[in-house]
Amino acid sequence: MDQGFTLWFTGLSGAGKSTLAELLATELRERGHRVEILDGDEVRTNLSKGLGFSKEDRDINIRRIGYVSHLLARNGVIVISAAISPYREVRDEVRRLHDRFVEVFVRCTIDKLVERDVKGLYKKALAGEIKSFTGVSDPYEEPHTPELVVDSSIESVAESLGKLIARLEELNYINKGARR
Ligand code: ADX
Repeated sequence: MDQGFTLWFTGLSGAGKSTLAELLATELRERGHRVEILDGDEVRTNLSKGLGFSKEDRDINIRRIGYVSHLLARNGVIVISAAISPYREVRDEVRRLHDRFVEVFVRCTIDKLVERDVKGLYKKALAGEIKSFTGVSDPYEEPHTPELVVDSSIESVAESLGKLIARLEELNYINKGARR
């Protein structure tokens, strides 16, 4: 059985975590890997239904995602997590559950995020209509030593995806260009 691993995206809302997760999953499936995505927005409608955005609730959410990731990864699945996961300590806790963990910081300037504002949430957060919004009125702790940084304010999606694949190949977690 192939060994699994968890690829853990972290970054602000709208930075591109879910988009990259989907594209990466497609690419890895084409290479014959089994892949599951655990996306913050989706997890919050089932596994974490009822949780809010206090530090306590966010930490519970991340621990749940981390726990399921670890169960799947140890059974040969490549798990891609896409949640803001704003707190370093709980991310490191999740890392410790894993044999193979790839933390990817999806960086994006707040100016760009406000300009894009795909879900219209930054506008509301800046107007004070949403309290404790990450990056506006709630903390985000950047990782000190992530396995990879991609920057969606200066890279195209294709460039970021290329960097992800290259890094996974470099770590020997996927086969080099082994398309089916
Ligand atoms: S996390 O902090 O617990 O990792 P998660 O990734 O699950 O967050 O959910 C983030 C998503 O919830 C955002 O993309 C956004 O759509 C929505 N959201 C609603 N309220 C907030 C808030 N106060 N801060 C951040 N995101 C919020």
